[in-house]
Amino acid sequence: MVLQTCVYDFPRPNLSMAYKIVIGNGLVFAEGEEHKLQRKLLTPAFSYAHVKKFVPVFMSKTKKVMNQFDKIVETGPTVFKVFPYFSRLTLDAIGEASFGVDLNSIEEKNSELVRAYDKISNAGEKFFPFYMFAFLPGWKYIPTAYNKEVHHARKIFSETCKNVLKEKKDKVNSTGIVRGKDGIYNGPNRDILSILLGNSDWSAEEVENQMMTFLFAGHETTAGAIAWALLTLAKHVDVQKKMRDEVRAAIPGGVEDIKTAEQIESLKYVNNVTRELLRCNPPVISTLRQASRDVIIDGETIYKGTNVNVSLKALNYSKKLWGADAHEFNPDRWDGRQADNAYAYMTFLQGTRSCIGKRFAEIEFKCILASFVARYVFEESVDNQPINRQFIVTVRPTDGLPLKVSKISGW
Ligand code: HEM
Repeated sequence: MVLQTCVYDFPRPNLSMAYKIVIGNGLVFAEGEEHKLQRKLLTPAFSYAHVKKFVPVFMSKTKKVMNQFDKIVETGPTVFKVFPYFSRLTLDAIGEASFGVDLNSIEEKNSELVRAYDKISNAGEKFFPFYMFAFLPGWKYIPTAYNKEVHHARKIFSETCKNVLKEKKDKVNSTGIVRGKDGIYNGPNRDILSILLGNSDWSAEEVENQMMTFLFAGHETTAGAIAWALLTLAKHVDVQKKMRDEVRAAIPGGVEDIKTAEQIESLKYVNNVTRELLRCNPPVISTLRQASRDVIIDGETIYKGTNVNVSLKALNYSKKLWGADAHEFNPDRWDGRQADNAYAYMTFLQGTRSCIGKRFAEIEFKCILASFVARYVFEESVDNQPINRQFIVTVRPTDGLPLKVSKISGW
């Protein structure tokens, strides 16, 4: 009920609203009728038919990072921090898929725009000044050093959005692009922004809020998912080998030959491992809601103001839902089956506010993982490598995730 029938009676609590000030009122933070409308307008951009066209984007970013890995491991197995590479890969992928803009954080780590984005998305790391946004309505106007930095970052992001928007509108006007039957832009650059432009009459500020939202919601989550996936695979080299064998047999020509979602979807074992990795390592482990009125669920009254913690990871690990081996990493559990209960697999949440980018993320995740595992072996940097993580909206490694990486020739 909290996630479906009474979803709008359980908005996010005030605490989460600090993010709304920084990120903007896009899909993640909109509530009620506004959320319903935004979701309806944005859904076509995230259909499977559309997101599978982003495979070339995912692959071009993947290849860039693989070139960097090739150089690092040129002289043999090397231990290095892998997380920053995947964080930049997923940032560039979402940047290009959302705006049609190459943020180029993979090669140019310190651009002003990437720094601005980092500032905004990591604003919550400084607990005190950040959460003041939620509790003191006028706080954002006080010119503290922290507030100035956040405003400056937001301004840089905002200017880029305006330029991109103008460029796209000009292109549309000069090429006479029209909406297709499905309401989707028939433009040559069918990134998410192009679709938004064709599908709605949103103002520049509204579009900017959605763009910031996609970067925020789509970047850290996928980067975290890949990081934890690699650590799990480093602890299960047998699974890695089976994946590698499958990818190499199905796509013998190497990474250059991965061009379509169909190729990736045909990798049965990679698909099973992906589901299991995402079940065992959800980058969002829980989400908070607060009852905005008294609601009766199963005869129990949930009083107005009650906080509800929906623990996604607990459901993913529930023995009642998954059986006695729920806590074990076992890709074969997915052989020929889906989760028996829709609310058992909660990595992307379920219901009205489930992840709109689920299909996008799954394909991206598989493109990246299949390619890297086919070419490299990932091993723990020390025996029983500890899991050093921090939880700020998503769970991410605090140590950059050092892993031992070696290249296997022939792919
Ligand atoms: C492995 C990667 C991802 C995971 C695990 C994930 C997980 C989630 C979860 C758990 C939620 C619900 C959060 C809450 O209500 O507190 C969510 C919402 C959302 N996600 Fe994702 N996500 C991923 C990737 C993406 C990508 C790539 C995009 C965009 C391209 C995206 C866009 C969104 C948006 C816009 C929402 C808000 C939906 C709404 O409230 O209607 N996510 N995601």
